[in-house]
Amino acid sequence: MSFVTMGELLKKAQEGHYAVVAPSNKDEITLRASIDAAEEMHSPVIINLNYKAHPDIRFFARMCRDLALEASVPVALNQDHGAEYEHAMRAIQAGFTAVMADRSTLPFEENIAKVSEIVKVAHACGVTVEAELGHVGYSDKDDMKERALTVPSEAKEYVERTGVDCLAVAIGTVHGVYKGTPHIDFDLLHELRDTVNVPLVLHGGSGTGEDNLARACREGICKINIGTDVMQAGRDAVLHSVVHAPHDTLPFFYEAYKKELERYMVLFGSKGKA
Ligand code: 13P
Repeated sequence: MSFVTMGELLKKAQEGHYAVVAPSNKDEITLRASIDAAEEMHSPVIINLNYKAHPDIRFFARMCRDLALEASVPVALNQDHGAEYEHAMRAIQAGFTAVMADRSTLPFEENIAKVSEIVKVAHACGVTVEAELGHVGYSDKDDMKERALTVPSEAKEYVERTGVDCLAVAIGTVHGVYKGTPHIDFDLLHELRDTVNVPLVLHGGSGTGEDNLARACREGICKINIGTDVMQAGRDAVLHSVVHAPHDTLPFFYEAYKKELERYMVLFGSKGKA
């Protein structure tokens, strides 16, 4: 159908009280599985490519654009967790329709200054910008101690001063496999939704639990990043498959990744919204 900006998809999700899933991609298999899942579910989809995930992002963007233009659903391509100004510039040049500029471990003023310069260029090129305030953290890294929930008054000021199109918020999720039971602060989510006027994004969706995620979509989250669960589904399918011919291994990965993603599209309410 179309290769669109992430902003366009998220505005509709915000109005419709559902969330668009952003699966972590790596290669052609995960890309095809993501777009095929979206077609099957008649759902929009946001292809998330971490800036470190692929050695040739220009090639990946061409491939994504090609498949998106042939697809029956809208597809956006987002650079996930870009860490430097150069990462965003290369993604914009490569044809990404969105960039996430992650400066969430920097002090507030520095975060604003660094993200604002990216917003200026990205908007001149018609590209959506996502940023993060508070810090979601990674379950497998030391920086769990840097985890910090988002403060609503700061989020309001941050969005106004940077001009970002959507904001990733820290309300209790973590990236990767949870060590304990996830606790989502829904009161904080409500306050953020009522204070910040751009669509809100949730990182670290995997393992957060169906009830938590479905509720988050209904109550203010417009985009959810899912990485670990789709990759794990693919890996487990390969490990558990009785593969007679080595050439048949990768389709197992594709099928399981796609199926897991379809489950999330239904859960997030984006099924039928394409
Ligand atoms: P999970 O791997 O925990 O789903 O997180 C993915 C993510 O947030 C990518 O930015």
